[in-house]
Amino acid sequence: MSSCTILGIETSCDETSAAVVVDGRHVRASLVSSQVDLHARYGGVVPEIAARAHIEHVRPVIEETLKQASLRYQDLSAIAVAAGPGLVGSLLIGITAAKTLALACDLPLVEVDHLEAHATSAALLSETPPWPAIALVVSGGHTSLYLVRDFLDIGLLGQTTDDAAGEAFDKVAALLELGYPGGPAIDRVARAGNPAAIRFPRTWIDKPHFDFSFSGLKTAVLYHVHGHGRKYGSVAHLASAQIADVAASFQAALVATLVSKTLAAARHARVSDVVVGGGVAANSALRAGLAGACQKAGLRLHLTSLEYCTDNAAMVAALGCRRFQAGLVSDLWLEARAGLRRPARAPRSR
Ligand code: KG4
Ligand code: ZN
Repeated sequence: MSSCTILGIETSCDETSAAVVVDGRHVRASLVSSQVDLHARYGGVVPEIAARAHIEHVRPVIEETLKQASLRYQDLSAIAVAAGPGLVGSLLIGITAAKTLALACDLPLVEVDHLEAHATSAALLSETPPWPAIALVVSGGHTSLYLVRDFLDIGLLGQTTDDAAGEAFDKVAALLELGYPGGPAIDRVARAGNPAAIRFPRTWIDKPHFDFSFSGLKTAVLYHVHGHGRKYGSVAHLASAQIADVAASFQAALVATLVSKTLAAARHARVSDVVVGGGVAANSALRAGLAGACQKAGLRLHLTSLEYCTDNAAMVAALGCRRFQAGLVSDLWLEARAGLRRPARAPRSR
Protein backbone atom coordinates (compact mmCIF):
# COMPACT_ATOMS: atom_id res chain seq x y z
CA MET A 1 0.00 0.00 0.00
CA SER A 2 1.40 3.41 -0.92
CA SER A 3 2.37 5.83 1.82
CA CYS A 4 -0.39 8.04 3.14
CA THR A 5 0.29 11.56 4.48
CA ILE A 6 -2.76 13.15 6.07
CA LEU A 7 -3.35 16.67 7.37
CA GLY A 8 -5.89 16.43 10.21
CA ILE A 9 -8.00 19.35 11.42
CA GLU A 10 -9.86 19.34 14.75
CA THR A 11 -12.11 22.19 15.97
CA SER A 12 -15.04 20.40 17.59
CA CYS A 13 -14.94 22.18 20.95
CA ASP A 14 -12.41 24.67 22.31
CA GLU A 15 -9.09 23.49 20.88
CA THR A 16 -7.91 24.54 17.43
CA SER A 17 -5.65 21.73 16.31
CA ALA A 18 -3.87 20.52 13.18
CA ALA A 19 -1.51 17.58 12.67
CA VAL A 20 0.28 15.70 9.94
CA VAL A 21 0.34 11.92 10.39
CA VAL A 22 2.02 9.47 8.02
CA ASP A 23 0.60 5.96 7.52
CA GLY A 24 -1.80 6.35 10.42
CA ARG A 25 0.81 6.33 13.17
CA HIS A 26 3.89 8.47 12.51
CA VAL A 27 3.16 11.96 13.83
CA ARG A 28 5.22 14.44 11.76
CA ALA A 29 3.77 17.53 13.49
CA SER A 30 0.93 18.16 15.93
CA LEU A 31 -0.22 21.55 17.19
CA VAL A 32 -2.98 22.40 19.65
CA SER A 33 -4.02 25.97 20.31
CA SER A 34 -6.04 25.93 23.52
CA GLN A 35 -8.74 28.48 24.32
CA VAL A 36 -8.88 27.55 27.99
CA ASP A 37 -7.96 31.07 29.16
CA LEU A 38 -10.78 32.59 27.11
CA HIS A 39 -13.41 30.38 28.75
CA ALA A 40 -12.03 30.15 32.30
CA ARG A 41 -13.83 33.27 33.56
CA TYR A 42 -17.18 31.76 32.49
CA GLY A 43 -16.45 28.38 34.11
CA GLY A 44 -17.14 26.51 30.87
CA VAL A 45 -16.91 26.70 27.08
CA VAL A 46 -18.94 29.56 25.55
CA PRO A 47 -19.85 28.37 22.02
CA GLU A 48 -19.84 31.85 20.41
CA ILE A 49 -16.41 32.68 21.81
CA ALA A 50 -15.07 29.26 20.80
CA ALA A 51 -16.21 29.68 17.17
CA ARG A 52 -14.68 33.16 16.90
CA ALA A 53 -11.36 31.98 18.32
CA HIS A 54 -11.29 29.06 15.84
CA ILE A 55 -11.74 31.54 12.96
CA GLU A 56 -8.68 33.47 14.15
CA HIS A 57 -6.48 30.47 14.83
CA VAL A 58 -7.32 27.80 12.28
CA ARG A 59 -5.21 29.14 9.41
CA PRO A 60 -2.05 29.97 11.40
CA VAL A 61 -2.26 26.61 13.21
CA ILE A 62 -2.51 24.69 9.91
CA GLU A 63 0.31 26.68 8.31
CA GLU A 64 2.60 26.26 11.32
CA THR A 65 1.86 22.52 11.39
CA LEU A 66 2.89 22.10 7.75
CA LYS A 67 5.99 24.21 8.39
CA GLN A 68 6.98 22.03 11.34
CA ALA A 69 6.40 18.92 9.22
CA SER A 70 8.50 20.49 6.41
CA LEU A 71 5.73 19.73 3.94
CA ARG A 72 3.74 21.61 1.30
CA TYR A 73 0.06 21.05 0.51
CA GLN A 74 1.10 19.15 -2.67
CA ASP A 75 2.86 16.56 -0.48
CA LEU A 76 -0.39 15.55 1.24
CA SER A 77 -2.53 12.54 0.31
CA ALA A 78 -5.74 13.95 1.79
CA ILE A 79 -7.27 16.31 4.37
CA ALA A 80 -9.15 14.77 7.29
CA VAL A 81 -11.50 16.76 9.48
CA ALA A 82 -13.56 16.05 12.60
CA ALA A 83 -17.14 16.60 11.40
CA GLY A 84 -18.89 15.85 14.70
CA PRO A 85 -20.13 15.48 17.31
CA GLY A 86 -19.33 18.82 18.89
CA LEU A 87 -20.34 22.48 18.93
CA VAL A 88 -21.81 23.28 15.54
CA GLY A 89 -20.22 26.75 15.27
CA SER A 90 -16.81 25.30 16.15
CA LEU A 91 -17.12 22.29 13.83
CA LEU A 92 -18.07 24.54 10.92
CA ILE A 93 -14.77 26.43 11.09
CA GLY A 94 -12.65 23.28 10.79
CA ILE A 95 -14.90 21.82 8.10
CA THR A 96 -14.85 25.04 6.06
CA ALA A 97 -11.06 25.22 6.32
CA ALA A 98 -10.76 21.56 5.25
CA LYS A 99 -13.15 21.99 2.31
CA THR A 100 -11.38 25.14 1.15
CA LEU A 101 -7.99 23.44 1.20
CA ALA A 102 -9.38 20.33 -0.48
CA LEU A 103 -10.86 22.40 -3.29
CA ALA A 104 -7.92 24.79 -3.70
CA CYS A 105 -5.24 22.08 -3.58
CA ASP A 106 -7.27 19.38 -5.32
CA LEU A 107 -7.01 16.99 -2.38
CA PRO A 108 -9.50 14.34 -1.19
CA LEU A 109 -11.57 15.27 1.86
CA VAL A 110 -12.06 12.66 4.60
CA GLU A 111 -14.70 12.93 7.33
CA VAL A 112 -13.79 11.62 10.78
CA ASP A 113 -16.05 11.10 13.80
CA HIS A 114 -14.53 12.87 16.81
CA LEU A 115 -15.52 10.10 19.22
CA GLU A 116 -14.24 7.33 16.96
CA ALA A 117 -10.96 9.25 16.82
CA HIS A 118 -10.83 9.26 20.66
CA ALA A 119 -11.77 5.54 20.68
CA THR A 120 -8.84 4.65 18.42
CA SER A 121 -6.31 7.20 19.76
CA ALA A 122 -4.56 4.59 21.92
CA ALA A 123 -3.42 2.91 18.69
CA LEU A 124 -1.88 6.13 17.40
CA LEU A 125 1.73 5.15 17.91
CA SER A 126 1.43 1.37 17.97
CA GLU A 127 2.64 -0.88 15.23
CA THR A 128 0.00 -3.55 15.82
CA PRO A 129 -3.45 -2.13 16.66
CA PRO A 130 -5.03 -3.99 19.59
CA TRP A 131 -8.36 -4.80 17.90
CA PRO A 132 -10.76 -6.25 18.81
CA ALA A 133 -10.89 -4.13 21.96
CA ILE A 134 -13.26 -2.39 24.30
CA ALA A 135 -12.78 1.37 24.08
CA LEU A 136 -13.72 3.67 26.93
CA VAL A 137 -14.08 7.26 25.72
CA VAL A 138 -14.28 9.71 28.59
CA SER A 139 -14.27 13.42 27.82
CA GLY A 140 -15.92 16.72 28.69
CA GLY A 141 -18.87 16.01 26.43
CA HIS A 142 -19.03 12.22 26.25
CA THR A 143 -18.72 8.99 28.19
CA SER A 144 -19.11 5.93 25.99
CA LEU A 145 -18.09 2.31 25.70
CA TYR A 146 -17.43 0.91 22.24
CA LEU A 147 -16.54 -2.46 20.81
CA VAL A 148 -13.81 -1.66 18.28
CA ARG A 149 -13.46 -4.60 15.91
CA ASP A 150 -11.34 -2.56 13.54
CA PHE A 151 -10.63 1.13 12.73
CA LEU A 152 -13.67 1.05 10.44
CA ASP A 153 -15.93 -1.16 12.55
CA ILE A 154 -16.81 0.59 15.80
CA GLY A 155 -20.04 -0.28 17.66
CA LEU A 156 -21.54 1.57 20.60
CA LEU A 157 -22.22 -0.56 23.71
CA GLY A 158 -23.41 2.19 26.05
CA GLN A 159 -23.04 5.84 27.00
CA THR A 160 -23.97 8.37 29.61
CA THR A 161 -27.62 9.22 29.92
CA ASP A 162 -26.93 12.61 31.54
CA ASP A 163 -23.61 14.23 32.47
CA ALA A 164 -20.34 13.17 30.85
CA ALA A 165 -17.52 12.15 33.20
CA GLY A 166 -15.50 15.29 32.37
CA GLU A 167 -18.57 17.44 32.86
CA ALA A 168 -19.04 15.91 36.32
CA PHE A 169 -15.38 16.66 37.12
CA ASP A 170 -15.80 20.25 35.89
CA LYS A 171 -19.05 20.82 37.84
CA VAL A 172 -17.76 19.32 41.08
CA ALA A 173 -14.57 21.36 40.74
CA ALA A 174 -16.67 24.51 40.31
CA LEU A 175 -18.67 23.55 43.41
CA LEU A 176 -15.43 23.08 45.35
CA GLU A 177 -14.08 26.36 43.91
CA LEU A 178 -11.06 24.63 42.40
CA GLY A 179 -11.13 26.50 39.06
CA TYR A 180 -11.54 25.51 35.41
CA PRO A 181 -10.95 23.07 33.77
CA GLY A 182 -11.94 21.04 36.77
CA GLY A 183 -10.60 17.58 35.90
CA PRO A 184 -6.90 18.35 36.34
CA ALA A 185 -7.68 20.41 39.48
CA ILE A 186 -9.60 17.55 41.15
CA ASP A 187 -6.92 15.09 40.09
CA ARG A 188 -4.30 17.28 41.83
CA VAL A 189 -6.27 18.09 45.00
CA ALA A 190 -7.50 14.49 45.42
CA ARG A 191 -3.93 13.28 45.92
CA ALA A 192 -4.00 14.78 49.40
CA GLY A 193 -7.45 13.35 50.23
CA ASN A 194 -8.87 10.07 51.47
CA PRO A 195 -10.88 8.34 48.70
CA ALA A 196 -12.79 6.32 51.32
CA ALA A 197 -13.75 9.34 53.45
CA ILE A 198 -17.24 9.70 51.98
CA ARG A 199 -19.23 6.93 50.27
CA PHE A 200 -20.68 8.65 47.18
CA PRO A 201 -23.09 6.72 44.90
CA ARG A 202 -21.80 4.44 42.18
CA THR A 203 -24.85 4.61 39.93
CA TRP A 204 -25.72 1.43 37.95
CA ILE A 205 -22.33 -0.11 38.78
CA ASP A 206 -23.79 -3.64 38.89
CA LYS A 207 -26.57 -3.22 36.33
CA PRO A 208 -26.38 -5.51 33.29
CA HIS A 209 -25.97 -2.69 30.76
CA PHE A 210 -23.22 -0.30 29.73
CA ASP A 211 -24.90 3.06 30.20
CA PHE A 212 -23.71 5.59 32.77
CA SER A 213 -25.36 8.27 34.89
CA PHE A 214 -23.30 10.82 36.80
CA SER A 215 -25.86 13.49 37.67
CA GLY A 216 -26.81 11.70 40.93
CA LEU A 217 -23.16 11.58 41.98
CA LYS A 218 -22.80 15.29 41.28
CA THR A 219 -25.93 16.06 43.31
CA ALA A 220 -24.71 13.85 46.17
CA VAL A 221 -21.51 15.93 46.31
CA LEU A 222 -23.58 19.12 46.31
CA TYR A 223 -25.74 17.88 49.21
CA HIS A 224 -22.71 16.67 51.10
CA VAL A 225 -21.03 20.07 50.80
CA HIS A 226 -24.01 22.38 51.31
CA GLY A 227 -26.78 20.26 52.77
CA HIS A 228 -30.20 19.77 51.18
CA GLY A 229 -31.85 22.88 49.75
CA ARG A 230 -28.84 25.21 50.11
CA LYS A 231 -27.46 25.28 46.61
CA TYR A 232 -24.44 27.20 45.45
CA GLY A 233 -23.16 28.44 48.80
CA SER A 234 -19.43 28.95 49.25
CA VAL A 235 -17.10 26.23 50.48
CA ALA A 236 -15.40 28.63 52.90
CA HIS A 237 -16.70 26.52 55.81
CA LEU A 238 -14.59 23.55 54.68
CA ALA A 239 -10.93 23.11 55.60
CA SER A 240 -8.62 22.25 52.71
CA ALA A 241 -8.26 18.69 54.07
CA GLN A 242 -12.05 18.27 53.89
CA ILE A 243 -12.11 19.58 50.31
CA ALA A 244 -9.38 17.11 49.43
CA ASP A 245 -11.47 14.28 50.96
CA VAL A 246 -14.55 15.31 48.95
CA ALA A 247 -12.48 15.52 45.74
CA ALA A 248 -10.84 12.14 46.38
CA SER A 249 -14.13 10.43 47.33
CA PHE A 250 -15.96 11.87 44.29
CA GLN A 251 -13.12 10.79 42.00
CA ALA A 252 -13.10 7.30 43.58
CA ALA A 253 -16.85 6.83 42.98
CA LEU A 254 -16.61 7.96 39.37
CA VAL A 255 -13.49 5.90 38.64
CA ALA A 256 -14.97 2.76 40.28
CA THR A 257 -18.01 3.02 37.99
CA LEU A 258 -15.92 3.54 34.85
CA VAL A 259 -13.56 0.68 35.71
CA SER A 260 -16.34 -1.76 36.61
CA LYS A 261 -18.40 -1.08 33.46
CA THR A 262 -15.31 -1.25 31.22
CA LEU A 263 -14.34 -4.65 32.60
CA ALA A 264 -17.91 -5.90 32.32
CA ALA A 265 -17.94 -4.80 28.67
CA ALA A 266 -14.69 -6.69 28.00
CA ARG A 267 -16.20 -9.84 29.57
CA HIS A 268 -19.39 -9.36 27.58
CA ALA A 269 -17.57 -8.95 24.26
CA ARG A 270 -14.99 -11.65 25.13
CA VAL A 271 -12.04 -9.45 24.19
CA SER A 272 -8.63 -9.31 25.86
CA ASP A 273 -7.76 -5.68 25.12
CA VAL A 274 -9.00 -2.41 26.58
CA VAL A 275 -8.21 1.04 25.17
CA VAL A 276 -8.97 4.37 26.81
CA GLY A 277 -9.14 7.84 25.28
CA GLY A 278 -10.59 11.33 25.83
CA GLY A 279 -9.63 14.13 28.20
CA VAL A 280 -10.57 12.24 31.40
CA ALA A 281 -8.23 9.40 30.31
CA ALA A 282 -5.50 11.74 31.60
CA ASN A 283 -6.84 11.24 35.14
CA SER A 284 -4.24 9.55 37.33
CA ALA A 285 -6.75 7.64 39.48
CA LEU A 286 -8.52 6.30 36.40
CA ARG A 287 -5.23 5.24 34.82
CA ALA A 288 -4.14 3.49 38.03
CA GLY A 289 -7.60 1.95 38.65
CA LEU A 290 -7.82 0.52 35.14
CA ALA A 291 -4.23 -0.73 35.25
CA GLY A 292 -4.85 -2.65 38.50
CA ALA A 293 -8.22 -4.07 37.44
CA CYS A 294 -7.05 -5.10 33.94
CA GLN A 295 -3.98 -6.80 35.35
CA LYS A 296 -6.14 -8.76 37.79
CA ALA A 297 -8.57 -9.76 35.04
CA GLY A 298 -5.81 -10.74 32.59
CA LEU A 299 -6.67 -7.94 30.15
CA ARG A 300 -4.14 -5.86 28.23
CA LEU A 301 -4.64 -2.14 28.83
CA HIS A 302 -3.66 0.45 26.19
CA LEU A 303 -3.77 3.96 27.60
CA THR A 304 -3.65 6.83 25.15
CA SER A 305 -0.45 8.80 25.75
CA LEU A 306 -1.19 11.97 27.71
CA GLU A 307 -0.67 14.41 24.83
CA TYR A 308 -3.33 12.64 22.73
CA CYS A 309 -5.96 12.25 25.49
CA THR A 310 -7.43 15.74 25.21
CA ASP A 311 -8.69 17.03 21.87
CA ASN A 312 -6.07 16.87 19.14
CA ALA A 313 -5.87 16.58 15.37
CA ALA A 314 -3.31 13.75 15.36
CA MET A 315 -6.03 11.26 16.27
CA VAL A 316 -8.21 12.71 13.49
CA ALA A 317 -5.42 12.43 10.92
CA ALA A 318 -4.58 8.88 12.08
CA LEU A 319 -8.14 7.59 11.71
CA GLY A 320 -8.50 9.73 8.56
CA CYS A 321 -5.64 7.76 7.02
CA ARG A 322 -7.40 4.42 7.62
CA ARG A 323 -10.63 5.80 6.16
CA PHE A 324 -8.83 7.29 3.15
CA GLN A 325 -7.07 4.00 2.46
CA ALA A 326 -10.48 2.28 2.54
CA GLY A 327 -11.83 4.76 -0.03
CA LEU A 328 -14.11 6.58 2.42
CA VAL A 329 -13.85 10.03 0.87
CA SER A 330 -16.43 12.81 1.30
CA ASP A 331 -17.56 15.43 -1.19
CA LEU A 332 -17.68 19.17 -0.62
CA TRP A 333 -21.26 18.95 0.66
CA LEU A 334 -19.92 17.58 3.94
CA GLU A 335 -21.83 19.13 6.84
CA ALA A 336 -21.18 19.54 10.56
CA ARG A 337 -22.88 16.89 12.66
CA ALA A 338 -23.35 18.45 16.08
CA GLY A 339 -25.31 15.61 17.69
CA LEU A 340 -24.35 12.09 18.58
CA ARG A 341 -24.65 9.47 15.92
CA ARG A 342 -26.42 6.49 17.43
CA PRO A 343 -24.85 3.39 15.95
CA ALA A 344 -26.63 0.05 16.26
CA ARG A 345 -26.15 -1.18 19.78
CA ALA A 346 -24.66 -4.53 20.61
CA PRO A 347 -27.06 -6.92 22.40
CA ARG A 348 -27.67 -6.07 26.07
CA SER A 349 -27.73 -9.60 27.52
CA ARG A 350 -24.67 -10.88 29.31
O1 KG4 B 1 -11.48 15.24 25.29
P1 KG4 B 1 -11.49 16.62 25.83
O2 KG4 B 1 -10.25 17.46 25.66
O3 KG4 B 1 -12.65 17.47 25.23
C1 KG4 B 1 -13.90 16.95 24.89
O4 KG4 B 1 -14.02 16.35 23.78
O5 KG4 B 1 -14.79 17.09 25.74
O6 KG4 B 1 -11.86 16.49 27.39
C2 KG4 B 1 -11.93 17.60 28.25
C3 KG4 B 1 -12.36 17.12 29.62
C4 KG4 B 1 -12.64 18.25 30.61
O7 KG4 B 1 -13.89 18.00 31.22
C5 KG4 B 1 -11.49 18.14 31.62
O8 KG4 B 1 -11.88 18.56 32.92
C6 KG4 B 1 -11.21 16.65 31.57
O9 KG4 B 1 -11.32 16.31 30.20
N1 KG4 B 1 -9.86 16.33 32.07
C7 KG4 B 1 -9.64 15.59 33.19
C8 KG4 B 1 -8.24 15.55 33.38
N2 KG4 B 1 -7.65 16.25 32.36
C9 KG4 B 1 -8.67 16.72 31.56
N3 KG4 B 1 -10.50 14.98 34.03
C10 KG4 B 1 -9.99 14.32 35.07
N4 KG4 B 1 -8.66 14.26 35.36
C11 KG4 B 1 -7.76 14.85 34.53
N5 KG4 B 1 -6.45 14.76 34.81
ZN1 ZN C 1 -12.92 15.20 22.65
